[in-house]
Amino acid sequence: MANYLVTGIAGFIGSAVARALLRQGHQVTGVDNLTTGYRDNVPAGAAFIKADCQDAALYDTVLPRTPFDAIFHIAGQSSGEVSFDDPAYDLRTNTESTLHLLRFARRTGCTRLIYASTMSVYGCQPDEPVHETAPAAPLSFYGVGKLASEHYLRLHEQFGIRSTALRLFNVYGHGQNMDNMRQGMVSIFMAMMLRNGHIHVKGSPERYRDFVHIDDVVRAFLLCLGQQRSHGEVINIAGSGRVTVGQLVEELRALHPAPVTVEFSGCTAGDMHGIHADKDKARTVLGYTPQVSLRQGLEDMYRRTAPLLTRHHGAENAS
Ligand SMILES: NC(=O)c1ccc[n+]([C@@H]2O[C@H](COP(=O)([O-])OP(=O)(O)OC[C@H]3O[C@@H](n4cnc5c(N)ncnc54)[C@H](O)[C@@H]3O)[C@@H](O)[C@H]2O)c1
Repeated sequence: MANYLVTGIAGFIGSAVARALLRQGHQVTGVDNLTTGYRDNVPAGAAFIKADCQDAALYDTVLPRTPFDAIFHIAGQSSGEVSFDDPAYDLRTNTESTLHLLRFARRTGCTRLIYASTMSVYGCQPDEPVHETAPAAPLSFYGVGKLASEHYLRLHEQFGIRSTALRLFNVYGHGQNMDNMRQGMVSIFMAMMLRNGHIHVKGSPERYRDFVHIDDVVRAFLLCLGQQRSHGEVINIAGSGRVTVGQLVEELRALHPAPVTVEFSGCTAGDMHGIHADKDKARTVLGYTPQVSLRQGLEDMYRRTAPLLTRHHGAENAS
């Protein structure tokens, strides 16, 4: 049995990773400041600490001194759009937090850190599967902060911290925050459809993304633990391949028995026109290939989310 630290444990991805680690019989300590996460998301059996990952006191006085077997750093402000509201906050919450965690790992003798990075580090790319070696020129402060975090990971290799940065593409699935209308294309559209029978898309239907189901993302995080070849690497984690926003909207409409109107207008700051992933490195380094098709994943999410949507969640800071 191993002992893991999971940051962002009250969020969509962090809670799912923590749940999978607990199911395998490991010990999990989770940190979250509940800005977009929910206390109810923290899986039973995990020790929970409510704190900001950028707060030095967390590392000096709260977390145990015995080294964790690995740190999963998943906490973060996860919206490109929101990063434009307060870039300095984005930097503190997403980048300073990474630096603190790396220094904590070094001080306590933890030698493994797995990081939730993002496709947003790439910025504008040609319409072909983007490889990890493509030049990274982010279009949002969020992407800049995540890319900086990747470089902090790289620099800490010299201190014996073996890290892996997973560049997650558009993650979706059951458990996604359906109240946060500024992050998560699938969750935003599905919430609009279920609540109002109307989907307002900010941007063109020709834009395209690569949608990856939460179960595949969890598998990728866990695969990192067993694959030494992933040490020091950045790896794309994607799923569906190239899917346009218009196609996604049609897939969602097909799930819903009632009429759904759709409007395309406006745009989002820092939005990329299109991106989809080259998945070769994930396959060769991690043994990862996505298992959940977009249709299966959307059907499952719709089936499990629709009945819950009207239930009130106790977020301390619903966005
Ligand atoms: N969802 C996606 O499509 C996607 C894609 C690429 C990368 N990511 C990254 O994955 C991570 C998790 O995203 P998610 O979709 O689960 O979002 P989420 O908002 O559901 O989860 C993030 C969690 O981190 C917590 N948090 C935020 N800042 C914190 C801080 N400074 N200290 C402590 N806790 C903090 C929030 O309260 C929340 O519980 C983020 O780092 C995000 O950038 C997500």
